[in-house]
Amino acid sequence: MKSISKLSHIGVANRKPLRVNKAFIFAFRVSIHLISAIWLGIVYYQALSGHLEGDPVQYLLDFSGIGTLHLLFASLLISPLAQWMKFQQLMRIRKTFGVYAALYALFHVWVFIAYELQFEWLLIASEIIERPYITVGALAALILIALLASSFEKIKKKMGSKWQKLHNFVYIAVIAGCIHYLWSVKSNWYEPAIYLSIATLLLLIRRKKIKNLFK
Ligand code: HEM
Repeated sequence: MKSISKLSHIGVANRKPLRVNKAFIFAFRVSIHLISAIWLGIVYYQALSGHLEGDPVQYLLDFSGIGTLHLLFASLLISPLAQWMKFQQLMRIRKTFGVYAALYALFHVWVFIAYELQFEWLLIASEIIERPYITVGALAALILIALLASSFEKIKKKMGSKWQKLHNFVYIAVIAGCIHYLWSVKSNWYEPAIYLSIATLLLLIRRKKIKNLFK
């Protein structure tokens, strides 16, 4: 696969930078806020009011788990897309996707703690320690929560160069989230395998940057 920097010969270098009205980016961000928050709110309401068929807790876990991965993929796609389209303003949308990825992950953990294990703290601790797929999920959740906590401008400024270092952990979170998914299924492994492939592809696109992190 060609890296972004090698795409120049297929016309990216000659492409004019794309600029749109600020209002367009604002509307895009507001739409992400509305769709992500309202969708989660509706599903949660349906589960609480008994309007979901089957096991509502399982449904909420599945919805929020898959939702986290979709939002993480979207946030990781923005930077290569912005470079390829020469559309720097797109980067302003990345944070919105990232914030909702972390909020969906928090909700996923909340459903597990509050509804699946009903605040049985000893049981929760033993699940995290003894079930490897939960351990890996907890690692991903911890990273996303740390990224969310550090996403405020004041904290970002205080952290300086450490902020970027911390945010590179998103690559571990996305892979851990996909492994957690793959590990959680008893059959039908092809769907989580597709998710893991997408995550790997998103990391391969930025392999140069990732290689540099280990130097
Ligand atoms: C402490 C953290 C976490 C816990 C305790 C946890 C727990 C669970 C549980 C109990 C399930 C249901 C498994 C089953 O069907 O039997 C599940 C599924 C899932 N989780 Fe998590 N999880 C955590 C973090 C995460 C994170 C951070 C992500 C995403 C980055 C994630 C993504 C998923 C996905 C995609 C599924 C499968 C959904 C489906 O089957 O459609 N989880 N998780």
